Amino acid sequence: MGTSAICSLEQVSKHYRVKKGFFSQATTRIKALNKVNLEIRRQEILGLVGESGCGKSTLARLVLGLERPSGGKILFEQTDLSSLSGKGLKDFRKRAQMVFQDPFSSLNPKKTIFQIISQPLRIHKICPRERLEQEVRRLLTLAGLSTPGLERRYPHEFSGGQRQRIGIARALATRPELVVMDEPTSALDVSIQAQIINLILDLQETERLTCLFISHDLPIVQFVSHRVAVMYKGTIVETMPKGAFGLTKETASNNEIHHPYTSFLMKSIPVPSTNGVGDCHAFESSQTEEHAPGISSPESGCVFWGRCPYGMKICQEKEPVSVEVGKDHFISCHLFKAKEKERQQT
Ligand SMILES: Nc1ncnc2c1ncn2[C@@H]1O[C@H](COP(=O)(O)OP(=O)(O)OP(=O)(O)O)[C@@H](O)[C@H]1O
Ligand code: SF4
Ligand SMILES: [Mg+2]
Repeated sequence: MGTSAICSLEQVSKHYRVKKGFFSQATTRIKALNKVNLEIRRQEILGLVGESGCGKSTLARLVLGLERPSGGKILFEQTDLSSLSGKGLKDFRKRAQMVFQDPFSSLNPKKTIFQIISQPLRIHKICPRERLEQEVRRLLTLAGLSTPGLERRYPHEFSGGQRQRIGIARALATRPELVVMDEPTSALDVSIQAQIINLILDLQETERLTCLFISHDLPIVQFVSHRVAVMYKGTIVETMPKGAFGLTKETASNNEIHHPYTSFLMKSIPVPSTNGVGDCHAFESSQTEEHAPGISSPESGCVFWGRCPYGMKICQEKEPVSVEVGKDHFISCHLFKAKEKERQQT
């Protein structure tokens, strides 16, 4: 895993204008992303977590150049994505690919697997016509589908897990450097999820991929990622190495510190009960009334203020900046300013 960034987001914002109500002409602005700074490093799997609606998919679309930011810039190997057009944009599309959440709707039901996977090969002129079949078979084998003749069949003939493997084979067709995976396993059964996760881990190593891995499933994110970024209301509140993302009492070390929102997220994970009965319980829910997601955050200041049990006066007035609280571990919270000073003095 390298440390240089393949993709950097610098102060990236994305705002949408939406109607206030079904019959209303008045509009309101949704800040889907708010001044996001984030780097995706070469050959790492960067996990991105956060509750529904916090902006994960918006960030994914922006990183892939499918939408433009309202502010800030996204650099792919030092090139500003918004400066790309024509051949430059086509070349970027070859180098950055996506694996979709839903393996059922993401494959065209009217096309054979050969047509689906060979399409990017043809568009990007990756291999000559006479070698297309061989290349499609190679990609399917890479994705763990080696039965001869599969490429002549249609998507409906495959299970969810197999379809997701086909989606992965298609994403790999252009030999991308960056693959964005938005909830790639959430539509699959648990046993199939494990197979797809292992496939992603194998491919990341053999194909030297860089992945942005988005999921609600924190244990899966901890398992696959080298680093984890936590998002809340369009803001990255914490980034940390996998080791610092201690989800259970067993993996959490005593001196671990987290953004208050990350702590809530972690505590909301169901853990097996210790009484041996085999039921599960969430050892503390993050969704208590005073911390419910609907509570709005102030126009200025910290986005988590409305839910934070540690909120101070300054939190309402001033946006916290990111401070390094440990090796490669950054938190945006006023609580940790003092911590940084301590570090600098030692
Ligand atoms: N095209 C759009 N037009 C208007 N609002 C949008 C658009 N796309 C996203 N949003 C809004 O931006 C916010 C972030 O949405 P996004 O889909 O990125 O969240 P998410 O973290 O991916 O959620 P989920 O975990 O449910 O997939 C939401 O409030 C959403 O309603
Ligand atoms: S900045 Fe303040 S409100 Fe925001 S998470 Fe930290 S303590 Fe809570
Ligand atoms: Mg999403």
